Amino acid sequence: MRILTRTGSIWSRAVTTALLTLTLTSTHLAEACERQCQLNVSHAFADKYQLLTSQHFSTLSTKIEQSLFHGVPTTAYSPTEATNAIQHLQEAVIKAQRAWDVSLFRTVFDTIFVDEPKFKGDCNEPHRVDQPILGVNWTMADCHAMDYICGNPPSICHFMPMIKTRIERKLAVQLEIKVGGSSGLIEGVSENGDGSADEADVYANFLGPALSKVLMTHPKLEAYQATMHGNLNQILEIVGNQIVVEAAFLAPGAGPVKNEKWRSEWDLEIKLLLLSFP
Ligand SMILES: *[C@@H]1O[C@H](CO)[C@@H](O)[C@H](O)[C@H]1NC(C)=O
Ligand SMILES: *[C@@H]1O[C@H](CO)[C@@H](O)[C@H](O)[C@H]1NC(C)=O
Repeated sequence: MRILTRTGSIWSRAVTTALLTLTLTSTHLAEACERQCQLNVSHAFADKYQLLTSQHFSTLSTKIEQSLFHGVPTTAYSPTEATNAIQHLQEAVIKAQRAWDVSLFRTVFDTIFVDEPKFKGDCNEPHRVDQPILGVNWTMADCHAMDYICGNPPSICHFMPMIKTRIERKLAVQLEIKVGGSSGLIEGVSENGDGSADEADVYANFLGPALSKVLMTHPKLEAYQATMHGNLNQILEIVGNQIVVEAAFLAPGAGPVKNEKWRSEWDLEIKLLLLSFP
């Protein structure tokens, strides 16, 4: 009898412990910005930054149209050949942009959820906000109160300005390097000039091969290979410089200047999305 009671008590303790663990685990799970929340929120940020950076690819496309054939005598090509060549290069710009958009999403995701300080972990040490009941959203008051970095949606909401700056700095460096081959935002790199547009991803993997294909199919243009290559290089430098100028407010020590292209209503849009995740 005694043994039975003992066994029963051990059992009930084990069950209680198991239940407690379960409860704690599920509370923890419910509180965090979980996989779907992480993906949705990253997409929300990425959509805006894709919109803002798409302008540079548009400029690239326009400038290719304007000056790819600069300095090439019109006897070397027909108007149709020029149109086709430009179109071929513009398609390469679109491919480069698609690749950029994919890497941009990855950067946004990693900046918030992978790189330190990452928005993960316990939000109850110390306790700041109460988990809303199922079907009820977090509030702007929770966003205000959750004043340290941890894994729940209100924490991400609270630190949105800091998150945006971190993302923007990384994206600016990456875009400068992809288009121009170097970044003025990394001290010392642009000064030394060790990056060139030729080595940049956009040229090496997209525009360069596209130009080679055009030259291969139009033997008369072969003689102007260096000219056209130079034109493309010039275009990439112009767009690269434009990115540098635009990102100047992110340079170390540049002071608290805001990103003028980011629209303030986007903050609210993303915050409401965040707060809707249980
Ligand atoms: C999150 O993303 C999924 C898939 O893209 C979508 O179906 C869902 O509506 C999104 N949720 C919110 C709250 O935006
Ligand atoms: C929660 O937030 C979402 C996104 O803003 C909104 O569509 C939904 O109506 C909100 N739900 C409640 C119960 O307020």
